[in-house]
Amino acid sequence: MSEKWNTARIRKAKGRERIVCLTAHDYSTARILDAAGVQLILVGDSLAMTALGYSSTLPVTMREMLHHAAAVARAARSAMVVGDMPFMSYQLSPEQALRNAARFVKTAGADAVKLEGGAIRAETISLLTSNGIPVLGHIGLTPQSVREMGGYKVQGRQPEQAKKLLDDALAVEEAGAFAVVIECVPAGLGERITNALGIPTIGIGAGPSCDGQILVTNDILGLYDELSPKFAKRYAEIGAGIAEAVRAYKADVQEGRFPGPGHCFS
Ligand code: KIV
Repeated sequence: MSEKWNTARIRKAKGRERIVCLTAHDYSTARILDAAGVQLILVGDSLAMTALGYSSTLPVTMREMLHHAAAVARAARSAMVVGDMPFMSYQLSPEQALRNAARFVKTAGADAVKLEGGAIRAETISLLTSNGIPVLGHIGLTPQSVREMGGYKVQGRQPEQAKKLLDDALAVEEAGAFAVVIECVPAGLGERITNALGIPTIGIGAGPSCDGQILVTNDILGLYDELSPKFAKRYAEIGAGIAEAVRAYKADVQEGRFPGPGHCFS
């Protein structure tokens, strides 16, 4: 078996191979992603919506995130596991961030953490990385700021916004992040930031030039349809498959075909 993916391998992949990332929030799914060769599994706070049914990522707690991160970490043999720091678990101070990031690594077994924000998070990223906790940055559309941003909108369309995002990306790199997620920006800006950075960029709606791509697994599998971002390609209709299987089970039970002789003990 090849070496587990870690920050050094992710950094080295830049310019050599595209980095494949997906989200997971449970053991069974993480095992499938890991075996299929996904290199980085993010226990994203999007689980607030896809797994817990909230209407945004804001309500999910550290306790809930740790519970899911631990399940994913138990499954990952080859992929690097990144725990997403939930809203208000790191914004209050760099020390608060360090305390909570340590819980992802020590308690849940994650390999790294992700947090949202550019230059404003530089001090926090620097404190975490200098204490041995790898950080994946996240700029562009940062869903924890959805209220402030006025919705899930493409970022960086105006030249001054684009310049700010480039500066944010450079600040995150300078602070020590091993890679940075860029969410929902024009493809040209994704390319500009990718070319300006020495660390890999992981795009989600940021065009094909990013060093890697990430999507929410529930979106690509057709398991969550309350929000369907333009950037999320559907690779399967598992939700429809589950509904079909459940209807077949229901009919079997109601019409006395299940359990059959092969499912009974003598
Ligand atoms: O929470 C999440 O799933 C994310 C994305 C980058 C996929 O942050």
